[in-house]
Amino acid sequence: MSANTHFPALIKIDYEQPENAPKQDDNADQFSPAFPRYFLNNHAKKGAKIFDPFLGFGTTAFIAEELGFTPFGIEADELRYQWAAGQLEHWQNIRCADAFDAPDLALPKMDMLITSPPFMKISQSWNPLYAGDPQYKGYEAYLLRLTEIFMRLKPILKRGAPLIIHCDNIEGKPFTPLKRDMSYAISKAGFKAITEMNIIWGKNAPQNYPQTYALIFKN
Ligand SMILES: C[S@@+](CC[C@H](N)C(=O)[O-])C[C@H]1O[C@@H](n2cnc3c(N)ncnc32)[C@H](O)[C@@H]1O
Repeated sequence: MSANTHFPALIKIDYEQPENAPKQDDNADQFSPAFPRYFLNNHAKKGAKIFDPFLGFGTTAFIAEELGFTPFGIEADELRYQWAAGQLEHWQNIRCADAFDAPDLALPKMDMLITSPPFMKISQSWNPLYAGDPQYKGYEAYLLRLTEIFMRLKPILKRGAPLIIHCDNIEGKPFTPLKRDMSYAISKAGFKAITEMNIIWGKNAPQNYPQTYALIFKN
């Protein structure tokens, strides 16, 4: 079966509560399983290799496995890596590393990328892509690193492979236009921007989080 390549600008899907993180951990940055599930069901072809370079607690990989796809992933945080790899059938496909090192990790070419990079506020100094290393503090260093990382992911993706990037703007003063900035950072890495999808949560929508977004690119 060939993959559907039309990404609508607006969809409504039911929310699913994230649930596989360890109880004691802060999993505020885990995304809803409904996010990868929608894109896998609608846009991945049978047998596809699905890649999440910011794996976190492994939501993309768990749903990919559940639906019969082959997951691959990278997670920099040792505890999160152990948690995800410890439960996945395809645990050998998961690496504990900086996504920047992706080309050195003996990974095969991927059919699709689904991820949620760590978000950062414009006013924040702690750069999540460097685990807060003060040498790389600030929003500009974060955006620059996003471009560098995505440049390094390019050779791992098949030609024409879609990239599905979960992203939200961050409210507050000052407002962080993260969708715009992340989109620009990834385009600069050489990926073609296709569209921005607005995902409205239907049933079970959290009260303070009625919608989210996916930035869609093509290799
Ligand atoms: C938004 S979370 C991903 C959450 C995931 N979608 C889930 O549902 O569990 C981003 C993850 O990227 C990881 N991370 C941050 N910098 C990284 C880097 N340079 N390379 C690989 N992983 C990184 C963080 O430790 C965090 O777990």
